[in-house]
Parts: sequence; structure tokens; C-alpha cells
Amino acid sequence: MTQTENKPATQETPFVPIEKIVALCKRRGFVYPNSEIYGGVSGIYDFGPLGVELRNNIRRFWWWSMVQLHDNVVGIEGAIITHPRVWEASGHVENFVDRLVDCKNCKRRFRIDHLPPENVVSNRCPVCGGELTEPRTFNLLMETYLGVVEGERMKTYLRGEACQNIYLDYDNVLKSSRMQIPFGICQIGKAFRNEVTPGNFLFRQREFEQWDLQFFVHPSEMQQWFDYWKEKRFEWYKGIINHKDRLHFREHGPDELAHYAKQAFDIEYQTILGWQEWEGIHWRQDWDLSRHSEYSGQDLSYTDPITKEKYIPWIVETSGGVDRTFLNLLIDAYEEEPDTSGKEARTVLRLHPTLAPVKVAVLPLQKNKEELLTTARSIHNKLKRLMVSQYDDVANIGRRYRRQDEIGTPYCVTVDFQTLDDGTVTVRERDHMTQVRVAIDELPAYLLERVTWH
Ligand code: GAP
Repeated sequence: MTQTENKPATQETPFVPIEKIVALCKRRGFVYPNSEIYGGVSGIYDFGPLGVELRNNIRRFWWWSMVQLHDNVVGIEGAIITHPRVWEASGHVENFVDRLVDCKNCKRRFRIDHLPPENVVSNRCPVCGGELTEPRTFNLLMETYLGVVEGERMKTYLRGEACQNIYLDYDNVLKSSRMQIPFGICQIGKAFRNEVTPGNFLFRQREFEQWDLQFFVHPSEMQQWFDYWKEKRFEWYKGIINHKDRLHFREHGPDELAHYAKQAFDIEYQTILGWQEWEGIHWRQDWDLSRHSEYSGQDLSYTDPITKEKYIPWIVETSGGVDRTFLNLLIDAYEEEPDTSGKEARTVLRLHPTLAPVKVAVLPLQKNKEELLTTARSIHNKLKRLMVSQYDDVANIGRRYRRQDEIGTPYCVTVDFQTLDDGTVTVRERDHMTQVRVAIDELPAYLLERVTWH
């Protein structure tokens, strides 16, 4: 199975209200509000049984595409807590701030960089027109303390961006893995930000997960590698969504660029909330390794083994979010299909089969015939060693198909009376609801071919 080959989406397909995704996630065990029995914590979520399967598939697929398929890319897994000087060197202690204003009338709070320009000029609330307060500055880093003895505890931070570990481990990776420039280091890991305006479900959270590639190059090859990874990442996202017309690049304007950056692009996806950042492709130049060299006193320059040229490598960064991928994929996949027979609409998640949390459901046609149940259980027991399989014999077959459609299961295997005669089963495909008969012996290969990305 390669790029999404599901039913093509059209421009006219309406945008899904976020509330429908939130409700489905809670109802079917994808996402729960964190500490819900205590009233919840804004901007923090837990993932349920189906959510964790989907997240694992998303992570695995990114890792496979970025690390396993590239001979010049390796992976690390860094700690959430680092030495506090890291965040001084990175500039976060000084600059990782949101400037906020409050409406004196309706008490809503806004990030000043999210306000329409006319409201900044008029100093008026975009919702009720009330007067806005003077901007106040908040640092987004989450503080924590190492040690137990009062007075000797060291203040540090939960990492505000996961990529810093990559710069910290760059020299160790270089020395221990026989990599040479150009090469990359990947990581998937949690990041923490005291977002003052968390919201839109998983879109802006306080605890979230990022994936990063930091690709180290000679300065003369920067543009070439920047263009390479920019295109690669765009194609990656395009390959896992149905609504391909809802993906585009947004180039950062000169006022948005960091002083060291020549270019930056966001890959954006369009939802009911408008165009929103999914991943950033950043030109980081020699900023990170130079700063860490300066603050740590360790020389992080690279000596070319052939030319003996010594230089600080430049970096192309591709940095995206596991949670935004999770959310965007659900939004992209969700569809309510009118039922031609006049019954209730079919809710279907058209997730890419490689990413779907459950790959196959095994369903005996009826519960009252023991042979159907034992055959179905035996098929399920074989399949579950190869992929996530569910056995379900509760309710009529139509209802069971609907339950699987709603969680995006690409294939349902039905064991019926013909199975007992000729050893074949019905395989129903989620998107087109087509049915074919497949011999039980051929079932594992038939399904693996369709749920594995290759
Ligand atoms: N190292 C670069 C960096 O951290 P960023 O644009 O701040 O750049 C990269 O974050 C990605 O992390 C974003 O494109 C987004 O997918 C994800 N992300 C950032 N803040 C987030 C938040 N508060 N909640 C969920 N995901 C977030």
C-alpha cells in the first residue's frame, strides 16, 4: 500500500467541525481529557486504547521513512530534562515569550501576534470591541527543580523544544556512529510549553510530542539540502491524507524570519479553523552549534576527513508534531456518508490502512452456530500475531461493520456458512464496502499486502 488510494475527496467536501472529532475521540477511546475526574487541566490530554495504537503507527511510519530509509540519518532519544544552560544558549530563557493582552470588557485573552492588525492599531477586542490592556510578557518554558535539599536545588526546565538534545548529542553521534557530513539525526519526543492560550483540542497543547530531523551540512550545500528536505516532507504528508488540495507551503515573511535564517516554510493544512501550521522547515545555519560551543566551551566544529577544512556545520531542520498529525489525520479521514437506504448516516474514518489503529476485524456472521464462532476465533488468533485484529460477535453484522468503519478499520473478515463448506471468508473493504471471497490460508498475505507501506 503506497499513497492514500481511498475515495478521492473533492473541493466540495465540507470541513468537519472539531467538536465531532472531540466527541468521536472520547466515545471510541482515542483521546480523553487529562485528570478529567478532577475537572481536567487545560491543554493536556491522555490517549486511550485506539489513540495509542494510532500514535504508535504514526510514530513508526515517520521513523521508518526518515531513519530506516535514509543511510545518512540516525536516531536518538534524549531526556526531557537537560542542564539549564542549554536554554540560555538556545535563547529560550530570554526570547521564548508570548505577549498577551486582555479585554477589559469580556475578559478574553489574546496573543498580540494572533490579533488582526486593525485591532492592534485600535487597541480593541476583536470579539466585543472592548478596550485591551497593555501587553504583558510571559515566558513559555516550564520550570522544574533537580535535587531535594532546599537551597541546593537546581532550577531547570522541561524541554521547550525537543530538538535541543540533538545539538547536545551531535558530537557523540558523530564519534560513535561513523557518520560524516552531510548526515542527519532524528528524534521523536515530548516538549512542554506553558502556552497561555492552549486550545483547539490537540492543536495547541502544553505537553505535546515533536518529531525533528536536524540535517548537518557544509555551508555550500545548504540550499540544495534545504530544498531536498522541504520537498520530501511535503510529499510525506501528501501521501497520508485524502484531501491533497488542503495542503500547501507558506513561506515566512522577512519579519518572521530568525536573524540567521535565509528561508523558512511551514507546511500548512486547511481545516475548519483555516490554514494552520503542521510542520516547519527551517534554515538554522550555524546558530545552534555555534551557541552551544560558546556556552559550553566545547568546540563543536567539524573537520572534513578529506579536505581537512574545519567549520561549524549548518543545519536544515524539519520539525513537526505527532499530535497535530494525529488531529489532522482524524479531521482529514472523517466522513459522514448519507445512507441510500434511508437509515442513519455511515460515519467512516478513511485513515490510511498503514496508520489505522485496528487493521482487521474478524466477525462470525451469527452467534448461534458454534462452528462459526470457533472458526472466527481461530482466524483472529492467527491474524493478531501479524497485525492489530479485533474479534467481535456482539450485535448484527451491519452494526458491527459500522462500529469498525467509525474507527477506521480497513478490512472486516466475515465467517459465514459458506466458510464451513469451502474454507473461504468474505473480506469487506471499508471505503467502497466491496466484498471479495478469500481462502483462509491466503488471508494473512492478502491483508499484509494491503496494510503495509512498501
Ligand atoms: N525546533 C523547532 C520548533 O520547535 P515549532 O514551530 O515551535 O518549532 C514545531 O514547533 C512543531 O511542533 C509545529 O509545527 C507543531 O506541529 C508542533 N507544535 C508546536 N507547538 C505545539 C503545541 N503547543 N501543541 C501541539 N503541537 C505543537
